[in-house]
Amino acid sequence: MSKLIWIGLLVGVSCLAAPEHVERHAVQLVTVLRQADDAYYNTGEPIMGNAAYDALRSQYDALVAAYPELPDRLTVGADLPDDAQRVEHTKPVLSLKKAYADAEVAAFLETCGAERAYCVEPKLDGLTIVLRYRNGLLVQALTRGDGQSGMEVTAAIVAAGCVPVSLKNAPETLELRGELLLSFAAFNALNDRRRGEGLAPFKHPRNTAAGTLRLKDYAEIARRGLAMRIFEVIETESPPASHSDALAMVSALGLPTVDCRVVSGGEVLPAVERMYRAGLDAAFPTDGVVIRLDERAAFERLGATAKYPRGALARKYRAASVESTLLRVEWTRGETGRLTPVAHFEPVEQGGATLQCASLHSLDHLRALDLMIGDRIQVVRAGGSVPEIIGRSPAPRTGRETPIPPPEK
Ligand code: IVH
Repeated sequence: MSKLIWIGLLVGVSCLAAPEHVERHAVQLVTVLRQADDAYYNTGEPIMGNAAYDALRSQYDALVAAYPELPDRLTVGADLPDDAQRVEHTKPVLSLKKAYADAEVAAFLETCGAERAYCVEPKLDGLTIVLRYRNGLLVQALTRGDGQSGMEVTAAIVAAGCVPVSLKNAPETLELRGELLLSFAAFNALNDRRRGEGLAPFKHPRNTAAGTLRLKDYAEIARRGLAMRIFEVIETESPPASHSDALAMVSALGLPTVDCRVVSGGEVLPAVERMYRAGLDAAFPTDGVVIRLDERAAFERLGATAKYPRGALARKYRAASVESTLLRVEWTRGETGRLTPVAHFEPVEQGGATLQCASLHSLDHLRALDLMIGDRIQVVRAGGSVPEIIGRSPAPRTGRETPIPPPEK
């Protein structure tokens, strides 16, 4: 049966007995596939590779198998090919220049113009994904790859459900870049499930997010709760005049974006420090702060080296860690009423200061670190001066460690 015919049969058929989210997902799959068929058969310009098409089609098939009341006229395609498609990037995917000292940030601001406006954003610790929307439909998702071309991961991104597959009132062309990652909460839930199944827990949210993208089991991808935060608009018909406006436009279309504070050049360093003190982002792993010129024209005028754009910088902190022992965890209630765990550890010297306590930001963050009282821990000074526990020491536990008591009600 031709693809056009089976899709025609699917559209408009009621599938009331399936849960609402399944029905929504099925409609989205059909919408994307119909667009792909139209491009393939009618315009001769395919909008996605065969692997992505087949994967989307297999997903629909799986839904039909699980919910026979969904129209089950889909003919099962061939097995998925193992090698995913490599696709050229519209513009090279560059990295960010790193600055490890305030003086380097000051020099950057001097070069770009101290009087200009800058965006200060958390640098989320996941992996870059390029998203291509055409007439409001997600038609392609790519990994960074070598920066010139990436792997097509459309089906996995659709399965992850971390971005809408169709947008209302979207421009004809919209190419975005974002960070794909696991929140501490999703990472903990996944590891709880794995322990329950007798499997070893994963160690790091970023590596787990990258591994999840390579799975061929789309139901498992969907269960893991991957998240996306868009950090850049690469191409669209009428690009907004500033980066912050571009993020606002993307957010108004219903896409999740990175948090962005706009400040003047003179306020950049205090804003970076404030962002560190606030724990960068309580929900997601981070590895620094991104500072970029807000005005698009100024950003583009500065251009790029072979490796990074000149109008942006990543403020990072060398993670020279010192070891200590976790003594206790106290719970403090912040202005917002949220309970925050604070770790107290044996005093250690670093960079001329004595460190003995560090915020653990949130219950999810604490659980992701998987700490016990008595654990040997690694402490760094992030954000210039803010102590941060980055994990346990590699040495095995002694067996005398005790669980961290929960907060008193
Ligand atoms: S802007 C030209 N903003 O960091 C590069 N990147 O080291 C412009 N990242 O490839 C990137 N959070 O995967 C930017 N708020 C943010 C980010 C961010 C995380 C990642 C991204 C990028 C890498 C660069």
